[in-house]
Amino acid sequence: MVVGPGDDAGVFRHKNILLVETVDVITPIVDDPYTFGAICAANSVSDVYAMGGVPLTALAILGYASCDFSPAVIIKLLKGAKDKLREAGACLIGGHSIEDNEIKLGFAVTGVVEKKSLLRAGAASEGDILVLTKELGTGILTSAVKLKKMKPSGLKNAVDSMLTLNRTASSAAVASGARCATDVTGFGLLGHALNIAESSKKTLVISYDNVPFMKGVREFIAAGVVPKGAKKTLEFCAKKTSFSGAITEADKTALSDPQTSGGMLISLPIKGLKKFAGIMKKADAPFWIIGEVRRGKGRLIVK
Ligand code: CO
Ligand code: CO
Repeated sequence: MVVGPGDDAGVFRHKNILLVETVDVITPIVDDPYTFGAICAANSVSDVYAMGGVPLTALAILGYASCDFSPAVIIKLLKGAKDKLREAGACLIGGHSIEDNEIKLGFAVTGVVEKKSLLRAGAASEGDILVLTKELGTGILTSAVKLKKMKPSGLKNAVDSMLTLNRTASSAAVASGARCATDVTGFGLLGHALNIAESSKKTLVISYDNVPFMKGVREFIAAGVVPKGAKKTLEFCAKKTSFSGAITEADKTALSDPQTSGGMLISLPIKGLKKFAGIMKKADAPFWIIGEVRRGKGRLIVK
């Protein structure tokens, strides 16, 4: 075992092959089955990218009530997933379904990574800059739709973001000499940044004004749309985070919003920035410099 539990994916060495293995299962966040299947696949392969790897195969895990859903819906769901996996260069090679009152879909994904490309959560270095590759807000915006405070059509940007693979961000990070990255998912930016800080034994400084949010996120927080996960993450992270006086409760909530198929958070050596920016620009992929890594013992500063 090269990387055990606690990172984005496990890594196991067989002879000179490094296997990257991960599993992720989610409940629906959009109504359209094809789109949900595709988001689910993008979300599941993301942990392989977060390790600097390349996904190869996927096994589906599907829970649904067979009397509530017609085979046509399930076929669309899996078609969306298969198409997205193919875009990632991975192949759906099997899976398993069980009876479940609430529909669930996920994938166990296997990939490979070269030893020199491995991106570890615990490898942030003092002086690195922190780069984020997607805007935050999928948890709050999908909750707003569930609470009928926004029409599903208002999710268009969030859906496009969730459908975007982290492939370019991952290969750009590896090519620019990054050693440390993670993907921002269920524990929000705050939770995943704290994981990097703790496992790297460093202090991560986040500049709130540089953190990108999807349109509407702040308005919905003001209107009381707060996913349960955001509250829990904030409670957990607050003990190890110093917030400057200018950061409001709403700001803290926004930073804790759980993401589905969120972007990569990369700890990038400054000398790699030019190359990183070049690769991302060429692929028309956005990124934001949101902070830096300082000497420390596993804390966050948000200012
Ligand atoms: Co992850
Ligand atoms: Co995961």
